[in-house]
Amino acid sequence: MSFPAIRMRRLRRNETLRGMVRENKLAREDLIQPLFVVEGAGVREAVASMPGVQRFSVDQVVLESKRVADLGIPAVILFGIPAVKDARGSGADAADGIVQRAARAIADAVPSLCLITDVCLCEYTDHGHCGLLEGDEVDNDASLERIVQTALSHARAGASIVAPSDMMDGRVAAIRRELDANGFREVAILSYAAKYASAFYGPFRDAAESTPEFGDRRGYQMDPPNRREAMREMRLDLAEGADMLMVKPALVYLDVLADARRAFDVPLAAYHVSGEYSMIKAAGERGWLDADRAMIEALVSIKRAGADLILTYAAAEIAERL
Ligand code: PBG
Repeated sequence: MSFPAIRMRRLRRNETLRGMVRENKLAREDLIQPLFVVEGAGVREAVASMPGVQRFSVDQVVLESKRVADLGIPAVILFGIPAVKDARGSGADAADGIVQRAARAIADAVPSLCLITDVCLCEYTDHGHCGLLEGDEVDNDASLERIVQTALSHARAGASIVAPSDMMDGRVAAIRRELDANGFREVAILSYAAKYASAFYGPFRDAAESTPEFGDRRGYQMDPPNRREAMREMRLDLAEGADMLMVKPALVYLDVLADARRAFDVPLAAYHVSGEYSMIKAAGERGWLDADRAMIEALVSIKRAGADLILTYAAAEIAERL
Protein backbone atom coordinates (compact mmCIF):
# COMPACT_ATOMS: atom_id res chain seq x y z
CA MET A 1 0.00 0.00 0.00
CA SER A 2 1.14 3.50 -0.70
CA PHE A 3 -0.25 6.94 -1.53
CA PRO A 4 -3.11 7.88 -1.61
CA ALA A 5 -4.12 5.24 1.00
CA ILE A 6 -1.03 6.03 3.02
CA ARG A 7 -0.77 9.63 4.12
CA MET A 8 2.04 10.36 6.57
CA ARG A 9 0.59 13.79 7.24
CA ARG A 10 -2.47 12.32 9.07
CA LEU A 11 -0.53 12.02 12.31
CA ARG A 12 1.07 15.45 12.01
CA ARG A 13 -2.15 17.47 11.82
CA ASN A 14 -2.09 19.04 15.25
CA GLU A 15 0.01 19.22 18.38
CA THR A 16 -2.11 16.64 20.21
CA LEU A 17 -1.49 14.02 17.53
CA ARG A 18 2.15 14.97 17.16
CA GLY A 19 2.59 14.64 20.92
CA MET A 20 0.98 11.17 20.91
CA VAL A 21 3.38 9.78 18.32
CA ARG A 22 6.50 11.66 19.41
CA GLU A 23 9.33 9.15 19.73
CA ASN A 24 11.74 11.13 21.87
CA LYS A 25 11.13 13.73 24.53
CA LEU A 26 13.52 15.82 26.51
CA ALA A 27 12.98 15.55 30.23
CA ARG A 28 14.54 17.42 33.12
CA GLU A 29 15.86 14.08 34.44
CA ASP A 30 18.01 13.75 31.32
CA LEU A 31 19.98 16.89 31.99
CA ILE A 32 23.26 17.54 33.78
CA GLN A 33 24.27 21.15 34.43
CA PRO A 34 28.00 21.95 34.22
CA LEU A 35 29.14 24.59 36.73
CA PHE A 36 32.42 26.52 36.86
CA VAL A 37 33.81 27.37 40.29
CA VAL A 38 36.35 30.13 40.95
CA GLU A 39 38.06 31.52 44.05
CA GLY A 40 36.61 34.43 46.00
CA ALA A 41 33.26 35.27 47.54
CA GLY A 42 30.16 36.75 46.02
CA VAL A 43 31.55 36.16 42.54
CA ARG A 44 29.26 35.64 39.54
CA GLU A 45 31.12 36.54 36.39
CA ALA A 46 29.87 36.11 32.85
CA VAL A 47 31.92 33.97 30.47
CA ALA A 48 32.25 36.11 27.35
CA SER A 49 32.51 33.19 24.95
CA MET A 50 29.48 31.42 26.43
CA PRO A 51 26.40 33.67 26.56
CA GLY A 52 24.28 32.90 29.63
CA VAL A 53 27.07 31.00 31.42
CA GLN A 54 28.69 32.30 34.60
CA ARG A 55 31.59 31.36 36.84
CA PHE A 56 30.68 31.19 40.52
CA SER A 57 32.59 31.42 43.77
CA VAL A 58 31.82 28.63 46.27
CA ASP A 59 29.10 30.58 48.13
CA GLN A 60 27.38 31.44 44.84
CA VAL A 61 27.70 27.98 43.31
CA VAL A 62 25.74 26.67 46.29
CA LEU A 63 22.89 29.06 45.46
CA GLU A 64 23.07 28.14 41.79
CA SER A 65 23.03 24.42 42.62
CA LYS A 66 19.94 24.95 44.73
CA ARG A 67 18.27 26.76 41.82
CA VAL A 68 19.23 23.96 39.42
CA ALA A 69 17.88 21.30 41.79
CA ASP A 70 14.65 23.26 42.27
CA LEU A 71 14.20 23.23 38.48
CA GLY A 72 14.15 19.42 38.63
CA ILE A 73 17.62 18.82 37.22
CA PRO A 74 19.08 15.81 39.02
CA ALA A 75 22.80 16.48 38.67
CA VAL A 76 25.57 19.03 38.26
CA ILE A 77 29.15 18.50 37.09
CA LEU A 78 31.78 20.72 38.67
CA PHE A 79 34.82 22.29 37.02
CA GLY A 80 37.30 24.18 39.16
CA ILE A 81 39.50 27.11 38.23
CA PRO A 82 42.21 27.44 40.88
CA ALA A 83 44.03 30.66 41.77
CA VAL A 84 47.45 29.08 41.25
CA LYS A 85 48.67 26.44 38.85
CA ASP A 86 51.89 24.42 38.74
CA ALA A 87 53.55 21.69 36.70
CA ARG A 88 51.97 18.79 38.59
CA GLY A 89 48.53 20.34 38.99
CA SER A 90 48.74 20.35 42.79
CA GLY A 91 45.36 22.03 43.12
CA ALA A 92 43.58 19.11 41.47
CA ASP A 93 43.72 16.77 44.47
CA ALA A 94 44.14 19.28 47.31
CA ALA A 95 41.76 18.48 50.17
CA ASP A 96 40.91 22.19 50.32
CA GLY A 97 41.01 22.69 46.53
CA ILE A 98 38.37 24.70 44.75
CA VAL A 99 36.26 21.73 43.59
CA GLN A 100 36.62 19.93 46.91
CA ARG A 101 35.34 22.98 48.82
CA ALA A 102 32.51 23.52 46.36
CA ALA A 103 31.54 19.83 46.49
CA ARG A 104 31.43 19.84 50.30
CA ALA A 105 29.35 23.00 50.39
CA ILE A 106 26.88 21.75 47.77
CA ALA A 107 26.60 18.27 49.30
CA ASP A 108 25.82 19.95 52.60
CA ALA A 109 23.28 22.48 51.29
CA VAL A 110 21.58 20.47 48.53
CA PRO A 111 21.88 16.81 49.57
CA SER A 112 19.35 15.60 47.00
CA LEU A 113 21.49 16.78 44.09
CA CYS A 114 23.73 14.21 42.39
CA LEU A 115 27.25 15.62 42.48
CA ILE A 116 29.50 14.76 39.58
CA THR A 117 33.07 16.03 39.33
CA ASP A 118 35.24 16.36 36.25
CA VAL A 119 38.52 14.60 36.99
CA CYS A 120 41.34 16.14 34.99
CA LEU A 121 44.56 18.06 35.54
CA CYS A 122 44.30 20.59 32.71
CA GLU A 123 42.70 23.35 34.76
CA TYR A 124 45.41 22.93 37.41
CA THR A 125 48.62 22.59 35.42
CA ASP A 126 50.57 25.69 34.39
CA HIS A 127 51.24 24.06 31.01
CA GLY A 128 47.52 23.31 30.52
CA HIS A 129 47.91 19.66 29.56
CA CYS A 130 45.74 16.93 31.07
CA GLY A 131 48.63 15.02 32.63
CA LEU A 132 52.26 15.28 33.74
CA LEU A 133 54.88 16.22 31.17
CA GLU A 134 57.98 14.26 30.34
CA GLY A 135 59.75 16.64 28.00
CA ASP A 136 57.07 17.71 25.55
CA GLU A 137 55.03 14.55 25.97
CA VAL A 138 52.26 13.79 28.43
CA ASP A 139 53.48 10.79 30.44
CA ASN A 140 50.54 8.39 30.67
CA ASP A 141 51.60 6.19 33.57
CA ALA A 142 53.01 9.00 35.70
CA SER A 143 49.80 10.96 35.19
CA LEU A 144 47.62 8.12 36.44
CA GLU A 145 48.64 8.53 40.07
CA ARG A 146 47.73 12.24 40.01
CA ILE A 147 44.40 11.51 38.34
CA VAL A 148 43.60 8.73 40.80
CA GLN A 149 44.37 11.00 43.76
CA THR A 150 42.17 13.70 42.24
CA ALA A 151 39.24 11.31 41.93
CA LEU A 152 39.76 10.11 45.50
CA SER A 153 39.82 13.67 46.84
CA HIS A 154 36.54 14.35 45.04
CA ALA A 155 34.96 11.26 46.56
CA ARG A 156 36.12 12.39 49.99
CA ALA A 157 34.51 15.77 49.34
CA GLY A 158 31.15 14.17 48.58
CA ALA A 159 31.07 13.43 44.84
CA SER A 160 28.76 10.53 44.03
CA ILE A 161 30.06 10.20 40.49
CA VAL A 162 33.58 10.95 39.27
CA ALA A 163 34.10 11.64 35.58
CA PRO A 164 37.66 11.29 34.30
CA SER A 165 38.14 13.39 31.14
CA ASP A 166 41.91 13.18 30.63
CA MET A 167 41.93 10.28 28.12
CA MET A 168 44.94 8.55 29.71
CA ASP A 169 45.02 4.79 29.21
CA GLY A 170 44.13 2.71 32.26
CA ARG A 171 42.66 5.51 34.37
CA VAL A 172 39.27 3.88 34.91
CA ALA A 173 40.76 0.72 36.42
CA ALA A 174 43.22 2.75 38.48
CA ILE A 175 40.46 5.01 39.86
CA ARG A 176 38.17 2.04 40.62
CA ARG A 177 40.93 0.29 42.54
CA GLU A 178 41.77 3.36 44.63
CA LEU A 179 38.15 4.24 45.37
CA ASP A 180 37.43 0.68 46.51
CA ALA A 181 40.59 0.52 48.61
CA ASN A 182 39.47 3.67 50.43
CA GLY A 183 35.90 2.67 51.16
CA PHE A 184 34.24 4.46 48.24
CA ARG A 185 32.74 1.36 46.64
CA GLU A 186 29.50 3.23 45.97
CA VAL A 187 31.05 6.10 44.05
CA ALA A 188 30.36 5.60 40.34
CA ILE A 189 32.61 6.29 37.37
CA LEU A 190 31.27 8.13 34.35
CA SER A 191 34.06 7.74 31.85
CA TYR A 192 34.67 10.29 29.13
CA ALA A 193 35.42 7.21 27.03
CA ALA A 194 35.16 8.54 23.50
CA LYS A 195 36.50 12.06 23.80
CA TYR A 196 37.75 13.65 20.62
CA ALA A 197 40.43 16.30 20.09
CA SER A 198 37.82 18.84 19.08
CA ALA A 199 37.81 22.48 18.03
CA PHE A 200 34.40 22.73 19.71
CA TYR A 201 36.04 22.99 23.16
CA GLY A 202 37.25 26.50 22.32
CA PRO A 203 34.84 28.50 24.49
CA PHE A 204 35.32 26.12 27.45
CA ARG A 205 39.05 26.68 27.50
CA ASP A 206 38.32 30.38 27.93
CA ALA A 207 35.97 29.64 30.80
CA ALA A 208 38.27 27.12 32.47
CA GLU A 209 41.55 28.81 31.52
CA SER A 210 42.86 25.46 30.37
CA THR A 211 44.32 26.11 26.92
CA PRO A 212 47.58 24.16 26.49
CA GLU A 213 50.64 26.44 26.64
CA PHE A 214 52.15 24.58 23.72
CA GLY A 215 51.00 21.89 21.32
CA ASP A 216 47.54 20.37 21.50
CA ARG A 217 45.75 17.35 22.93
CA ARG A 218 45.91 15.16 19.86
CA GLY A 219 48.42 12.84 21.51
CA TYR A 220 45.77 11.65 23.99
CA GLN A 221 42.31 12.69 22.80
CA MET A 222 40.80 10.83 19.85
CA ASP A 223 41.27 11.69 16.20
CA PRO A 224 37.94 13.08 14.88
CA PRO A 225 37.70 10.87 11.75
CA ASN A 226 37.74 7.65 13.80
CA ARG A 227 34.57 5.72 14.56
CA ARG A 228 35.59 2.12 15.20
CA GLU A 229 38.28 3.26 17.59
CA ALA A 230 35.59 4.82 19.79
CA MET A 231 34.00 1.40 20.25
CA ARG A 232 37.34 0.02 21.38
CA GLU A 233 37.79 2.86 23.86
CA MET A 234 34.33 2.25 25.28
CA ARG A 235 34.75 -1.52 25.52
CA LEU A 236 38.03 -1.04 27.36
CA ASP A 237 36.52 1.42 29.84
CA LEU A 238 33.63 -0.94 30.53
CA ALA A 239 36.09 -3.77 31.12
CA GLU A 240 37.99 -1.51 33.52
CA GLY A 241 34.82 -0.89 35.51
CA ALA A 242 33.15 2.22 34.14
CA ASP A 243 29.51 2.46 35.24
CA MET A 244 28.53 4.85 32.47
CA LEU A 245 30.10 5.96 29.23
CA MET A 246 30.29 9.36 27.62
CA VAL A 247 30.69 10.51 24.04
CA LYS A 248 32.09 14.00 23.60
CA PRO A 249 31.36 16.27 21.75
CA ALA A 250 27.77 15.25 21.07
CA LEU A 251 26.34 16.76 17.89
CA VAL A 252 29.20 16.13 15.52
CA TYR A 253 29.59 12.57 16.91
CA LEU A 254 25.99 11.35 16.86
CA ASP A 255 27.07 8.37 14.76
CA VAL A 256 29.41 7.28 17.55
CA LEU A 257 26.62 7.69 20.07
CA ALA A 258 24.23 5.63 17.96
CA ASP A 259 26.86 2.89 17.59
CA ALA A 260 27.36 2.87 21.35
CA ARG A 261 23.62 2.66 21.99
CA ARG A 262 23.40 -0.45 19.85
CA ALA A 263 26.45 -2.11 21.41
CA PHE A 264 26.17 -1.37 25.14
CA ASP A 265 23.54 -1.67 27.84
CA VAL A 266 25.09 0.80 30.27
CA PRO A 267 23.74 4.34 30.61
CA LEU A 268 25.19 6.63 27.96
CA ALA A 269 25.93 10.29 28.41
CA ALA A 270 26.73 12.83 25.73
CA TYR A 271 28.47 16.14 26.29
CA HIS A 272 26.90 18.98 24.32
CA VAL A 273 30.11 20.99 24.54
CA SER A 274 30.82 24.68 24.80
CA GLY A 275 31.28 25.30 21.06
CA GLU A 276 28.06 23.47 20.25
CA TYR A 277 26.25 25.63 22.79
CA SER A 278 27.88 28.94 21.92
CA MET A 279 27.40 28.72 18.18
CA ILE A 280 23.64 28.44 18.64
CA LYS A 281 23.68 31.34 21.13
CA ALA A 282 25.82 33.50 18.86
CA ALA A 283 23.66 32.88 15.81
CA GLY A 284 20.60 33.65 17.92
CA GLU A 285 22.10 36.94 19.10
CA ARG A 286 22.56 37.93 15.49
CA GLY A 287 18.98 37.04 14.69
CA TRP A 288 20.10 34.36 12.26
CA LEU A 289 18.02 31.65 13.88
CA ASP A 290 15.65 31.08 16.79
CA ALA A 291 18.16 30.02 19.45
CA ASP A 292 15.51 28.61 21.82
CA ARG A 293 14.12 26.26 19.20
CA ALA A 294 17.54 25.38 17.82
CA MET A 295 18.77 24.45 21.30
CA ILE A 296 15.85 22.09 21.92
CA GLU A 297 16.24 20.56 18.47
CA ALA A 298 19.96 19.99 19.05
CA LEU A 299 19.38 18.40 22.44
CA VAL A 300 16.56 16.14 21.26
CA SER A 301 18.80 14.93 18.42
CA ILE A 302 21.24 13.76 21.08
CA LYS A 303 18.47 11.75 22.75
CA ARG A 304 17.31 10.38 19.41
CA ALA A 305 20.83 9.13 18.74
CA GLY A 306 20.70 7.18 22.00
CA ALA A 307 21.89 9.26 24.95
CA ASP A 308 20.29 8.74 28.34
CA LEU A 309 21.93 11.80 29.84
CA ILE A 310 23.00 15.10 28.30
CA LEU A 311 25.57 17.42 29.80
CA THR A 312 24.65 20.87 28.56
CA TYR A 313 25.18 24.49 29.54
CA ALA A 314 21.56 25.03 28.51
CA ALA A 315 20.22 22.62 31.17
CA ALA A 316 18.70 25.22 33.50
CA GLU A 317 17.17 27.35 30.75
CA ILE A 318 15.69 24.27 29.09
CA ALA A 319 14.31 22.96 32.38
CA GLU A 320 12.61 26.33 32.86
CA ARG A 321 10.91 25.91 29.49
CA LEU A 322 9.91 22.23 29.71
C1 PBG B 1 38.93 18.81 30.60
C2 PBG B 1 37.69 19.04 29.86
C3 PBG B 1 37.45 19.77 28.67
C4 PBG B 1 36.06 19.80 28.50
C5 PBG B 1 35.52 19.07 29.54
N1 PBG B 1 36.52 18.59 30.36
C6 PBG B 1 38.35 20.52 27.80
C7 PBG B 1 39.36 19.90 26.96
O1 PBG B 1 39.54 18.69 26.89
O2 PBG B 1 40.07 20.69 26.36
C8 PBG B 1 35.34 20.50 27.39
C9 PBG B 1 33.97 20.93 27.68
C10 PBG B 1 33.38 21.87 26.73
O3 PBG B 1 33.95 22.29 25.72
O4 PBG B 1 32.23 22.25 27.00
N2 PBG B 1 39.87 18.00 30.00
